[in-house]
Amino acid sequence: MGDVGNMAKLFDTTSSENTIIAKEELFHPDYCPTEALHRQNEMETVAAAIEPMIHGKACTNMFICGASGTGKTLCMKLILDQLKESSALVTPIYVNCWDYPTKMAIFYKISEALSLILPRRGLAADEVFERILDAMKKQNIAILLVLDELDSIVFRKEDSFLYTMSRAGLDRGARFGIVAISNKKDLTMLLDARAASSLRLSSFEFKEYNVEQLKAIVLERATNALVPKTWDAEAIEACARAGFGKNGNARLALEILWKSAQLAEQRNSAKIELQDIEEVVKMVEQRPSRGQRKKVSFQAQGLNLCEEEKILVNILLDGELPSTELYEAVAAKMKKSKRQIRNYLQLLEARGIVESKETSSGANDFLKMKIYALKPQGAG
Ligand SMILES: Nc1ncnc2c1ncn2[C@@H]1O[C@H](COP(=O)(O)OP(=O)(O)OP(=O)(O)O)[C@@H](O)[C@H]1O
Ligand SMILES: [Mg+2]
Repeated sequence: MGDVGNMAKLFDTTSSENTIIAKEELFHPDYCPTEALHRQNEMETVAAAIEPMIHGKACTNMFICGASGTGKTLCMKLILDQLKESSALVTPIYVNCWDYPTKMAIFYKISEALSLILPRRGLAADEVFERILDAMKKQNIAILLVLDELDSIVFRKEDSFLYTMSRAGLDRGARFGIVAISNKKDLTMLLDARAASSLRLSSFEFKEYNVEQLKAIVLERATNALVPKTWDAEAIEACARAGFGKNGNARLALEILWKSAQLAEQRNSAKIELQDIEEVVKMVEQRPSRGQRKKVSFQAQGLNLCEEEKILVNILLDGELPSTELYEAVAAKMKKSKRQIRNYLQLLEARGIVESKETSSGANDFLKMKIYALKPQGAG
């Protein structure tokens, strides 16, 4: 074997102790605090819409919207925890639609929650739904279905089952309550028309946090997760302000606190300094460009696009284009008329995948033209 004796040590074994971060798990993305600060009113409003279900009545179906990091998911999880303790008549089922992106996936998730044993041979979605209805009647329960990040099933046009589901109460005596969540305010306009009219979603917005509220949120996390005296009020304020600058985003403010603490530890500093926070804020701002992020998110989404739409999206991944250049680029790849290409673009725009703006016309109105770009998917 080689001569290890004289080799420089590759691993530092002297101290593996964290000097600033005491409980790193409190910064992990799926950590759920036991309380949502400054969200009591929002939680009461949502709970009031659900409460009739506990008394055997209909739920006011809701659409909760609000910018990224405004506490929608956190509040909903806290509400569901309480609902579980309050009533055996209502089974709450939380679904993140990116993880369960089709009607079939959601039906399976519900079956699992009802402990339904489904046969091995593949059942059609309608058959699975029938079994769910039977089980609900046998077990005498109503279901509160929370569809977080609803965008995923709306973009895939998988949302029409919501019509059947909301009708099931009237037609079959099986009650469903629906709470849909998204950070896209206009999403309901893209919802399957029949589903939208039968659900009669009542919209409710989570407003962006202000600096004071963000300070309270960051302060609480610092108190619980960091070693005392390794941070001060100035650091809390700097993190809160950074989150405030990004639409009142608590997730971002907390992430900046976490990364700054890591940086200060790496520097062997006794405490988090403003320079750590500034550096982290800069890093966050230099994250992959919007274009690159969009690229990744489009690939990940596996949107249900036809070949022509895929060609259009791929061209726009490299950046926005004026309509004439876009037509040329498309024409080089497939035989389609301008009118046909325009139709595809209109559809993509209606689905919230593409956006367009008109160039300022200047003196000459003939020069006015449309510029097409991919619409950023999800904030963050
Ligand atoms: N009021 C609050 N009190 C304590 N922590 C909060 C509060 N609001 C948000 N957070 C923290 O910020 C993070 C982001 O919140 P949450 O996931 O609920 O945002 P969201 O509105 O669902 O955002 P998105 O639209 O991106 O899904 C959570 O991890 C949570 O720990
Ligand atoms: Mg969320």
